[in-house]
Amino acid sequence: MRAPSLVLVALVGFVASATYDGYKVYKLVPQTEVQRAYLNSLAASPDFDFWSKIDRLGNPVTVMVSPRWQRRFEGHLKVNNIDYEVVIEDVESSIEAERKYHLSQPALKSGRISFTQYQRHSAINDYLTELVKQYPSIVSLENIGQSYQKRDMVVIRISTGSSNPAKPVIFVDAGIHAREWIAPATALYLINQLVENSANRYLIENIDWIILPSANPDGYEYSWTNDRLWRKTVSPGTLCNGCDPNRNFDFHWMETGASSWECSETYAGSRAFSEVETRNLRDYILKTPNIKAYLTLHSYGQYLLYPWGYGNVLPSNWRELDDLGQKVNDAIRAVSGTRYTVGSSTQVLYAAAGASDDWAMGVAGIDLVYTIELPGGGSYGFDLPASRIQGVVVETFEGFKVYADYVLNNR
Ligand code: ARG
Ligand code: ZN
Repeated sequence: MRAPSLVLVALVGFVASATYDGYKVYKLVPQTEVQRAYLNSLAASPDFDFWSKIDRLGNPVTVMVSPRWQRRFEGHLKVNNIDYEVVIEDVESSIEAERKYHLSQPALKSGRISFTQYQRHSAINDYLTELVKQYPSIVSLENIGQSYQKRDMVVIRISTGSSNPAKPVIFVDAGIHAREWIAPATALYLINQLVENSANRYLIENIDWIILPSANPDGYEYSWTNDRLWRKTVSPGTLCNGCDPNRNFDFHWMETGASSWECSETYAGSRAFSEVETRNLRDYILKTPNIKAYLTLHSYGQYLLYPWGYGNVLPSNWRELDDLGQKVNDAIRAVSGTRYTVGSSTQVLYAAAGASDDWAMGVAGIDLVYTIELPGGGSYGFDLPASRIQGVVVETFEGFKVYADYVLNNR
């Protein structure tokens, strides 16, 4: 009988997911096929959460392991001659340290923004509302629909002067994955700089920016209140909740790198666009004219990824995408040395179908498309300490300038 044990495993994985007491994070480097096969054999187990892909031999792998498996795991590593390093001794206490830091920060007045702390979904929307009040001539908001739990998904359009003739649009979203907090923070800084820093006026004279800073509000809030490492939406399932919004788009849906198992982190949903959040995003993009570039912010890994992600094929303009990606990388690196890897999702990361980037190119017909995997916190992974927000958002802003310049001169 397989089914009952599967149910049990799923429940254990689910119940254990809200606290990370005693969870350790290991970094190891597979050097032989046997070692890699051993790691692969763990990937489906709920006791092992791989934070990086099991890649080429010699590339480091980061994995979080539940307390009840650590002794056996370390034993297996010794038997298999795999050197390892414990990079986080106790995930819960590192999350707790961040929580304390946030609590120690002075409360912001509603509508104000800060880049020394992460913002809740409602604070993000409050900031946008405040901007329309203060800068009505360049800012407008549109509610593109509500999330499953009825939170407003708000896009901000930033534009000066006349829109006749129509200006090219750059569309940016962030927060498709709940736990990747640096992504909404980066979108907020972009908004802040475009609207509130008059030195950047030239960036909005001839380009319209449309930015959705919180694309999965329920998941994001859940990662604040219940599970810091939540990735998916929260729509109820039978065994486990939520689906991976970045596997839920209707383009080669479920073909590769996605799971049909509800409890998987990469569950693609019961059907393409099963989630209201992805439908809202889809409908907004399809009805908006002139989008010339689609940039979707994620973390982590420092990648500038262009399509295709559904398999090992390249779009016809891949050289252009690669050149532009390199220019963006150069601009970011010039700030303080952060290096990105540029390439197609499949070639430099892994194949995964049903993501928003492939859909934006394949269905919405936008030909400048990138998934930007922002930096992680090294040993913290998705839990990039708030003290590092400032550094990341400032350097990334230099990359946005390069995209703007390119769109202006080439579209
Ligand atoms: N880390 C992202 C994800 O897993 C990468 C997506 C890249 N794009 C793609 N089409 N595979 O969703
Ligand atoms: Zn992501």
